[in-house]
Amino acid sequence: MEENGFVLVTGGAGFIGSHTCLDLLEKGYGIIVIDSFLNSYPKSLERVKQILRSKNLTFKDKIFIYQGSLKNKDFILRVFNESEKNGCRIDSVIHFAGLKSVKDSIKNPLNYYEENVLSTINLLYVMNLFACKIIVFSSSATIFKPFENKLINEECQIESINPYASTKIFIERILNDLHISDKKNWKIMNLRYFNPIGAHSSGALGESPKGLSHNLFPLIMECAIKKNFTLKIFGKNWPTKDGTCIRDYIHVMDLAEGHIKALEFLRKNEPTIINLNLGTGIGTSVVDLIKVFENTNKENLSFLFTDRRKGDLPFLVADNKYAKDLLNWTPLRSLEQMCKDGWNWKLKNPNGY
Ligand code: UFG
Repeated sequence: MEENGFVLVTGGAGFIGSHTCLDLLEKGYGIIVIDSFLNSYPKSLERVKQILRSKNLTFKDKIFIYQGSLKNKDFILRVFNESEKNGCRIDSVIHFAGLKSVKDSIKNPLNYYEENVLSTINLLYVMNLFACKIIVFSSSATIFKPFENKLINEECQIESINPYASTKIFIERILNDLHISDKKNWKIMNLRYFNPIGAHSSGALGESPKGLSHNLFPLIMECAIKKNFTLKIFGKNWPTKDGTCIRDYIHVMDLAEGHIKALEFLRKNEPTIINLNLGTGIGTSVVDLIKVFENTNKENLSFLFTDRRKGDLPFLVADNKYAKDLLNWTPLRSLEQMCKDGWNWKLKNPNGY
């Protein structure tokens, strides 16, 4: 595998990043992780190593971790330089690092443009300098204009509804321009995630936000663990089968596998830029998710209906045909599995890492 060089994973200690790091190491890749730990914990990477040890898999000289910010171009230069000197030349990047709260992005847009867009420009500059021109980018389904109860494919219209979504759209455009500037070399994949939930089946890795999450699945688990917590369901009169919003929940390990398939595709194929929607194609309402969680884990949740949340969309589900065909990738884990694995992680780590 090493003739291919090392994979730089930015934001590798985060929720999707840590699960992807584990999968990369299990598959024999060498990785360099950059993380600021602004919204993640070094412990997640310790847990990755712990899982590998428990499987008797060696990771010696396969993982190097740097703490620092992509806002600092000199820091990125140092990571690339040092890696090269140490015989771990970086030849590709999976770029997860970035802020991801819609709410915060509305309050602090500059922060979002700096952390997401400026950081990506710095990263791309350094990649260019080192002739490292393979990148898999974490984009989001939030960039799509809502499309009345229809599955969202890659051709659907893009529209920004908040600064967070704008940062993802701008970065996709920057990557597109970069590809146009040097079509013979850049290999780029924009992965638009739908709603990743669940955790590694060991219960050692999972989602551990700093502060309270505003997302449904972490709040369902919070509600299940703290018996005095009531979950609010935002709206009961949406134009859906039960009046609550429908999303496409995808197991984080299926998503991690999608990244590796994306990377392998880029490595094997001619330079290109591809946009791909990563979801299961299955729509689940808020009430469905609560019911499946309750039945799978034999827990009762306390919930009430409140007003709609501003900026919510009734239906956001992927048409994942292109991803399945192109990458030969199929999300395998059921909603029950997502609920079971998420709950296993929460019971073992009620306060996160
Ligand atoms: N919901 C509730 N109560 C809550 C939280 C959420 O009813 O306390 C509902 C929401 O109204 C929505 C659904 O649960 O209908 C899912 O909400 P999430 O906040 O979990 O997820 P979103 O689909 O709104 O947004 C998420 C991420 C975004 C990302 C987007 C991509 O938060 O960062 O998915 O589709 F961009």
